[in-house]
Formats: sequence, structure tokens, C-alpha cells
Amino acid sequence: MKISIVVMMADKGVIGFDGAIPWDIDMNSGLFKFSTFDKPIIIGRKAFEARGELVQNSLNVVVSKTKFFNQINCITVCSPTEAINTLEGMKLKNKEVLVFGGESMYRAFLPLSSTIYMLRIHQSFEGDAFFEINPSIWKPTMFAPCVKNKDNPYRSEFIIYKRRLSKFPS
Ligand SMILES: NC(=O)c1ccc[n+]([C@@H]2O[C@H](COP(=O)([O-])OP(=O)(O)OC[C@H]3O[C@@H](n4cnc5c(N)ncnc54)[C@H](OP(=O)(O)O)[C@@H]3O)[C@@H](O)[C@H]2O)c1
Repeated sequence: MKISIVVMMADKGVIGFDGAIPWDIDMNSGLFKFSTFDKPIIIGRKAFEARGELVQNSLNVVVSKTKFFNQINCITVCSPTEAINTLEGMKLKNKEVLVFGGESMYRAFLPLSSTIYMLRIHQSFEGDAFFEINPSIWKPTMFAPCVKNKDNPYRSEFIIYKRRLSKFPS
């Protein structure tokens, strides 16, 4: 199973503040949607609750030790390892699984991931949740500038990073 990260990141690695995403951009738009459509997602309980709705057209796997969110297209597991084991046990047509945050999920899954789909927002925001990308491990393989419009008023680009060969932790 291939594990990939999906993240929106502003200047200085900011991805969140006070439990929320500090900007209002639809993650399900443009190239982001194209790259992520119809793939199962793994999401931490706090990011899931902050989102307030399922990621559409995907199986949502919520990681939590305290709550259950079992409904159509949504299951709850009690650890990152259980998320992987559960998805591997399913006969899913899509072999790529996307990690949708938040910070704790990125930390848990980044060492296991081979691709990062990033919306890089060139803007400063106050933050208390961060994402860090190590250029000796991750190589940008695609850049696509995003069009500024009323839904995304910031200069931003869609970047696909791939793990450099042999840089998986042993
Ligand atoms: N910019 C982006 O693309 C993006 C995307 C998503 C989220 N975010 C931001 O990220 C921030 C939230 O990150 P966060 O790290 O605080 O929360 P999170 O990763 O969304 O969720 C944390 C919760 O996940 C569960 N969890 C984490 N590790 C676990 C483990 N090893 N075993 C079992 N359960 C585990 C726990 O739930 P229980 O407490 O229920 O046990 C924990 O409280 C917010 O600011 C959010 O807006 C940003």
C-alpha cells in the first residue's frame, strides 16, 4: 500500500492555529482534487472534528482513542498502525492512501510515506501546528502555480514531492 501526505502549508511551516486551519481555501479544488479524488484518507480526530464533514468520495479512517465516528464511508481506528492494518485488510480498488492531517498524523505517517501533495501558500499566518519537509529526503517533482481568485486570494502553488530513493528510515 502506498501512503501519501496531503497538506496545505504556509510560510514557516504553519499548517494550523488554535485547532483550525488559518485560511479558507477549499482542499477539494483544482489539482488537489485531481490528485486526491477517490482515495481512502486517514485523519486525526481533531482535524476530522474541525473539518466537520467527511472527505467526499473517500473512505474516511479517523484515528482516535476517545471517540467513534462510524457511519457510511467512515470508520474509527485507535492508532496509526491499526489504520494501516485495517486498510491493508480491505480489498480496496485504490492502493494509495492519503493522510489528511493534522500535525500528529503527519508526524506518524511521514516516515512511511512516499509522496507529498502540498498546497504551498506564500503568506504568513500565526500558527501552533507545523509541517516540516527535509530537502535531503524529499524532492519536488512537480510545481503548478495556482490562480488567485476569490476562493484562494493568496499566491500559492501545488507541489508534488517524492521521497528520494533509499531515504526510508530503516
Ligand atoms: N493545513 C493542513 O493541511 C491541515 C490539515 C489537517 C489539519 N490541520 C491542522 O492541524 C491541527 C491539528 O493537529 P493535531 O496534531 O492537534 O490533531 P490531529 O492530528 O488532527 O488529531 C489528534 C488526535 O488524533 C488522535 N491520535 C493522534 N495520535 C494517535 C495515536 N498514536 N493513537 C491514537 N490516536 C491518536 C487523538 O485523538 P483522541 O484524542 O480522540 O484519542 C489525538 O487527540 C489543527 O490546527 C488543524 O487545523 C492542518
